[in-house]
Amino acid sequence: MKILVTRKIPSVAIDFLRQNGFEILINNKNRPLSRDELIRKSKDADGIVALLTDKFDKDVINKLTRCKVIANYAVGFNNIDIDYAKKKGIVVTNTPDVLTDSTADLTMTLVLSCARRVIEGHSMIIKRKFKGWQPELLLGMELKNKTFGIIGAGRIGNAVAQRAKAFGCSIIYFSDIANKKMENEITAKRVSLEKLLMNADIISVHLPLNSKTKYMLNAERLSLLKSSAILINTSRGEVIEEKALIKLLKENKIFAAGLDVFENEPNINPKLSALNNVVLLPHIGSATIEARNAMAMLAAKNIAAVLSGKKPLTPVN
Ligand code: GLV
Ligand code: GLV
Repeated sequence: MKILVTRKIPSVAIDFLRQNGFEILINNKNRPLSRDELIRKSKDADGIVALLTDKFDKDVINKLTRCKVIANYAVGFNNIDIDYAKKKGIVVTNTPDVLTDSTADLTMTLVLSCARRVIEGHSMIIKRKFKGWQPELLLGMELKNKTFGIIGAGRIGNAVAQRAKAFGCSIIYFSDIANKKMENEITAKRVSLEKLLMNADIISVHLPLNSKTKYMLNAERLSLLKSSAILINTSRGEVIEEKALIKLLKENKIFAAGLDVFENEPNINPKLSALNNVVLLPHIGSATIEARNAMAMLAAKNIAAVLSGKKPLTPVN
């Protein structure tokens, strides 16, 4: 049976699939497959390891003739029409858990980089503008005793809450349903989205992208933020109305934003990159050796399970 791997992933997973007797077709180019290439190469594949940059909409799914499983190499799966795939008898899987700690670590990296103005400091040094210690140079904010607001109480939201608690923050969160771990272990308080936005010193978004969460943080809601607030997004760019956020940052209506995800990746709005109260990263939440190896193995095991008639480990449809 033939597996298409749409981009080079850690070799442990490729070795595992080969050892299990699968024939592997890998895109070894240093770029994602174009839509046409994706259609052509996936047409007669029995299984596909896909990336979040591969769009499997109805049209592409209709062209798959043999596919039984699409293993997305990501926890998010907004690039795949999972309901339509299900109708066509295709199992879709993702890679939860294994990237939680990496993504939570990167979230705290952005929080601290914003709070302590790390990028501004680094630029000052390399531009040779550092003239010696100064009492009021690059004053930032301590995390201790601050209110940390978490939007979304899934695995990553919980892992961020744990870390923020260790820094001495009190945690509030927004979620449709109460989350046991948040309530009992982290002693976080569930509040409305509006209350969270009005009260939190640091706000971090940990939601999947879907029709309910698109532009959840629109201009009106963003206007509720405190002028001292730090907003972090490591989930999906489209959850925040980026234009409205740029306006707030430009007018210094919030302290800073730390973003690992954007509305139009990889075409970042130049107005965003012109600001100095932002920390911008190129979608690297899960980019650690540990997480990527584990994601690759999980994707491979999902493929092998489905194609040998077993239950997938982490299905999403
Ligand atoms: C990355 O953004 C992922 O969804 O895993
Ligand atoms: C700062 O460098 C200090 O010694 O307080």
